[in-house]
Amino acid sequence: MKTSVAIYPGSFDPVTNGHLDLIERGEKMFDVLIVAVLRNAEKQPLFTVPERVDMLREVTKHLSSVRVEVFDGLLVDFARKQGAGVILRGIRAVSDYEYELQMALMNRKLEPRLETVFMIPGEPYSYLSAKLVREIAQFGAPLTGLVPPVVEERLRAKMS
Ligand code: PNS
Repeated sequence: MKTSVAIYPGSFDPVTNGHLDLIERGEKMFDVLIVAVLRNAEKQPLFTVPERVDMLREVTKHLSSVRVEVFDGLLVDFARKQGAGVILRGIRAVSDYEYELQMALMNRKLEPRLETVFMIPGEPYSYLSAKLVREIAQFGAPLTGLVPPVVEERLRAKMS
């Protein structure tokens, strides 16, 4: 497994400036960064998977070594297929740690050759989440600085 290929998995419903900050940091560290959108049948997403992929591709188009893909099933299986050696995840606050630790250790149990690397997003994004963005958009409050402009447009269109 090449450690220079990393996977940044998530729901990205929708991609926020916090996600983008982490993608930009990860892109500097790894030869290839695969942003992997989970196709999760259980959740009730706001955006469809193709819509989320579309927005991610749009906001990462300036990053030549970033690819956006969709996966289902276990993340470790997807990582194996992609030849990735690293899972990249962001930790904003201590509250993220427990869930992230649990996932990282479970993924290690399933595939010991895969390492989880945690990165801290820029401070302005430490309180930002896709869930809060969806909530704010629902009530028509400004989203400036929270999501890329293209995502703001799509949120407005979705809510109108
Ligand atoms: O953005 P999210 O919703 O916090 O991302 C969670 C994600 C997609 C990373 C996680 O749910 C995942 O990896 N799901 C795939 C199924 C899997 O591998 N489960 C075991 C992980 S311990």
